[in-house]
Amino acid sequence: MVEWTNGTTYSCVGVFLAGTGEVEVLKDAKGHKCIPSVVAFKDGRVLTGYEAVAQADHNPSNTLYDAKRFIGKKFSPEELNTERPRYPFKIQLDDEGMVYFVVGPPNNLTNVRPEEVGAHLLRTLRQTAIANLSSSVTKTVMSVPAEFVDMQKNFTKKAASLAGLEVLRVISEPTAAAMAYGLHKKQNVQSVMVVDLGGGTLDVSLLMVQGGMFFTQAMAGNNHLGGQDFNQRLMSFLRSVIEKESNRVLTDPEDLQALRLVSEEVKLKLTTDEQVEISVPLQSTKSTFKYSISREKFEEVNLDLFKKVLQPIEMALQEAEMSKNQIDEVVLVGGSTRVPKIRQLIGDYFGKEPNTAVDPELAVAFGVGIQAGILGGMWPLQVSAIELPTNARKIHVY
Ligand SMILES: Nc1ncnc2c1ncn2[C@@H]1O[C@H](COP(=O)(O)OP(=O)(O)OP(=O)(O)O)[C@@H](O)[C@H]1O
Ligand SMILES: [Mg+2]
Repeated sequence: MVEWTNGTTYSCVGVFLAGTGEVEVLKDAKGHKCIPSVVAFKDGRVLTGYEAVAQADHNPSNTLYDAKRFIGKKFSPEELNTERPRYPFKIQLDDEGMVYFVVGPPNNLTNVRPEEVGAHLLRTLRQTAIANLSSSVTKTVMSVPAEFVDMQKNFTKKAASLAGLEVLRVISEPTAAAMAYGLHKKQNVQSVMVVDLGGGTLDVSLLMVQGGMFFTQAMAGNNHLGGQDFNQRLMSFLRSVIEKESNRVLTDPEDLQALRLVSEEVKLKLTTDEQVEISVPLQSTKSTFKYSISREKFEEVNLDLFKKVLQPIEMALQEAEMSKNQIDEVVLVGGSTRVPKIRQLIGDYFGKEPNTAVDPELAVAFGVGIQAGILGGMWPLQVSAIELPTNARKIHVY
């Protein structure tokens, strides 16, 4: 049995190892643990993951991504009109208000449903699993975002069945993350706050746990807060330094692009290093910009954004009518929770260390694997884990 995590940006496949009780996130032939959730149609062929990304620039209208945002969801024509400008591919609505994409050469257009995009990714991941395990792969456990309603879950299942997989269970991402930390079997844990801060979005879920049963009590989030915003702040700062030094406005698109790439790189380094040396050749000034930036400076230019992470946490607590000291465990998920200052702000807020031992990008995949192990009766201890249906609705911060 395999488990599948389908991200907006990346999808991963893992397997529960009955012998050790561990979960292994599987690597494909090229050594990638997760593949971009991108599917492209080219010369009658279907490309997935890195292969699809590699040709995206030359084939944007036939390279589909973000299908997860459309799967199993009804859109009004107005809602779709606000989405369309963000994508280089053609998006249409059927009579039922469901989305489909139109791809292919003009003389041979075909319609592709979001669940078919999911199925193509799943087939690739299934092949990875088959190659790793040298056995057939027919059953799976999947994770979906906390706010997915039944129809979105059902269409996600449909993606799996199109790929020839039987779905044993669908669990929510925060529940999976909590399970990655073994919180379904830990004594005296009744309430868990899961904070997922990725590249562009913040999602917070307050889970109640009892006897291995999870219940989502409240959800809140900010769809416009994440690592990209921190990069943007850093880039603006570096740009202002360059402009002051050179006494002119930096507008060269290639220089700006170089600065953008460096900002992401520098941000990642500042997670482990206190100080980072920057060196970027600029064509507009015909010189190399050199600068030494401290973690402190990075934190300073982002502090108001970092503090915004606490907003949906407070809203979720309010919604659940709970206080922060009633939270037994805090779980951090998503790449941006690696930023030391963010960990510190969250830790200080709750007055306790958040759980960070599991790789924040793989925690959901691990948790889904644990669920698969429990369902397969392979878990070494007698534990159960069940997710109860919830009526909680996500509260958005704008
Ligand atoms: N070591 C690090 N330090 C700081 N930020 C990091 C680090 N590693 C990854 N990130 C950031 O994490 C973000 C990606 O996280 P993740 O993979 O969880 O996002 P995602 O799930 O694709 O996005 P979203 O959940 O917003 O749709 C990127 O902005 C990346 O820069
Ligand atoms: Mg994410």
